[in-house]
Amino acid sequence: MSKSFEGKVVLITGGASGIGRVAGLAFAAEGAKIVISDVATEGGQETVRMIAAAGGHSTFVKTNVTSASDVKALLAEVQRAYGKLDFALNNAGIDGARARTADYPEDIWTQVLEVNLTGVFLCMKYEIPLMLAHGGGVIINLASVAGVTGFVAHCAYTASKHGVIGLTKTAALEYAKAGIRVNAICPCYTRTPMVERMVRTEPGLEARLQGRIPLGRLGTPEEIAAAAMYLCTDTASFITGHSLVMDGGIMAE
Ligand SMILES: NC(=O)c1ccc[n+]([C@@H]2O[C@H](COP(=O)([O-])OP(=O)(O)OC[C@H]3O[C@@H](n4cnc5c(N)ncnc54)[C@H](O)[C@@H]3O)[C@@H](O)[C@H]2O)c1
Repeated sequence: MSKSFEGKVVLITGGASGIGRVAGLAFAAEGAKIVISDVATEGGQETVRMIAAAGGHSTFVKTNVTSASDVKALLAEVQRAYGKLDFALNNAGIDGARARTADYPEDIWTQVLEVNLTGVFLCMKYEIPLMLAHGGGVIINLASVAGVTGFVAHCAYTASKHGVIGLTKTAALEYAKAGIRVNAICPCYTRTPMVERMVRTEPGLEARLQGRIPLGRLGTPEEIAAAAMYLCTDTASFITGHSLVMDGGIMAE
């Protein structure tokens, strides 16, 4: 049976863990060739092993998305190895500190903005020329519900994710006629190592979070990966500049 992404090349940043890892496995299961990049070498190599064990194809390129030279080298490697880039999932991100704005540590503010916002800008800056050279592509940026609403005690994360949505809309407009679609996905609490670390800090937090979600549970990385794959298909060919909220109903309240 033919697979839907046979012959496609997909770049995933933050592919050593959580949503990025699961998305790598999901795209590879549909026949795509995956470039996993992450600042974490061990986790990135583990994702590559997991994809191979499932019969897929991927390579790992160590990349810190805050470094322009790293990102430039990453895209040069994609070009060298595959000669094109069809889809990019700009997913690397960090959550930062939990503190109200007046108490928020300035160094963590800078770090969160550099990874979550500058990182997405740099990735798009170097992905777009490679896509343009081969007739277009699809970019998906991982924002968050914190990109569309305020989140108490997370000013840096919230500002960075609002910024990602602005970057997404702008690039979508700039490259629409050139065949590049650019969308964002805005998950709420999704069961990944990022959220597992958070719930470990406070007994009862997981139950409280679930209680706030109308569907009564956390999201799964598989659900986010499935949405990313949908946005890459031709079925989604009229969708660009969109921010897809996946939050179990929270924003409906
Ligand atoms: N899990 C959630 O509930 C949730 C909700 C909304 C949005 N998101 C977003 O989804 C994305 C993935 O999150 P996750 O939950 O899978 O988290 P995760 O912590 O499991 O994975 C994030 C990955 O990003 C990598 N990374 C961090 N800094 C990097 C850098 N400078 N350069 C390259 N890689 C770097 C980490 O090493 C890690 O492998 C993030 O952008 C996050 O903000 C997650």
